[in-house]
Amino acid sequence: MDGFTNKIIEGDCIDILGKAKEPFADLIFADPPFNIGYKYDKYHDKKEKEHYIDWTKKWMTACYNVLKPTGSFYIAIGDDYAANIRIIGEELGMFARNWIIWHYTFGQQTKDKFARAHTHIFYFVKDKKNFTFNDWAIRTPSDRQLIYNDKRANSVGKNPDDVWNCYSRVCGTFKERQGWHPCQMPELLLARIIAASSNPGDCVLDPFIGSGTTAAVAVKYGRKFFGTDISKTYVENATKRIQQLNKRSKNAYNAFNEMELDEIKRLFVEMGIDKTRLIENKKLLDIFTKQFSIRMNDSKTYDTEKIALVIKDFAESKK
Ligand SMILES: C[S@@+](CC[C@H](N)C(=O)[O-])C[C@H]1O[C@@H](n2cnc3c(N)ncnc32)[C@H](O)[C@@H]1O
Repeated sequence: MDGFTNKIIEGDCIDILGKAKEPFADLIFADPPFNIGYKYDKYHDKKEKEHYIDWTKKWMTACYNVLKPTGSFYIAIGDDYAANIRIIGEELGMFARNWIIWHYTFGQQTKDKFARAHTHIFYFVKDKKNFTFNDWAIRTPSDRQLIYNDKRANSVGKNPDDVWNCYSRVCGTFKERQGWHPCQMPELLLARIIAASSNPGDCVLDPFIGSGTTAAVAVKYGRKFFGTDISKTYVENATKRIQQLNKRSKNAYNAFNEMELDEIKRLFVEMGIDKTRLIENKKLLDIFTKQFSIRMNDSKTYDTEKIALVIKDFAESKK
């Protein structure tokens, strides 16, 4: 196969990645089937425990082999196999930097136990001293800045903690919902990972691409992508999702490109401030605009009024 760049290939990720002659991925995001009986097009999601663990070792090894020495590897997983992933990652020689909990709203309802409303996300690196972590791209304003007006506040914001509760699951009414895949990841969650652990031009690999979320965010953020999925239908549809993204002409807001728009939305949900309070309070809006400029890491001056308009439209589209 020639080149592992900007394509989504149908087939088993272990076979396909095994064909790479050398490591090509700067960042890997893997969201495998959790072995909990989800209904996928082609994959049966209820295997014997031993079989599933053995398969997990194989696909993690295949990913490890194509990860560059300075690369980062994020893995989303449910409760049942989280401990296994952590151990396998270390057995492969990786260094675990964070055990992140993604706490989401809209968990599935249960009658006889507490409703499950989280997913584990492991963050591993190959080399514990040499990796990409763009803290400026993920910092958020602190309570000292937003609430307490505290002069000791760090004016460049603070690093988010390892419990992520700002990203909702992708509901049926959301614009980004593709509708043909049972478990789509939110784009804004992928945006945090891609912004933190890769740079423009880097290659982001997703071995279980599903609806194409990772590739879509990689494209918007100026990264390369490579994806695989066992389902022909998912591969065809995810490829169309990317093609449509590439075809899209200008968005409705002339002042911003696609990445800037998504970054305004990401900062808004991560700050967790009510839309009206934010856009009607000059001090808060100035803090928002400053943090946004830090995240964009460029010399542009951003117009607070135009940013407020994007926030308003986005918040209203979520109602
Ligand atoms: C949890 S979903 C990924 C969803 C994806 N993160 C998204 O946002 O749409 C897991 C995907 O793995 C695919 N899959 C299962 N076994 C596979 C294999 N051996 N190689 C590649 N893909 C596989 C399934 O078809 C399914 O689309």
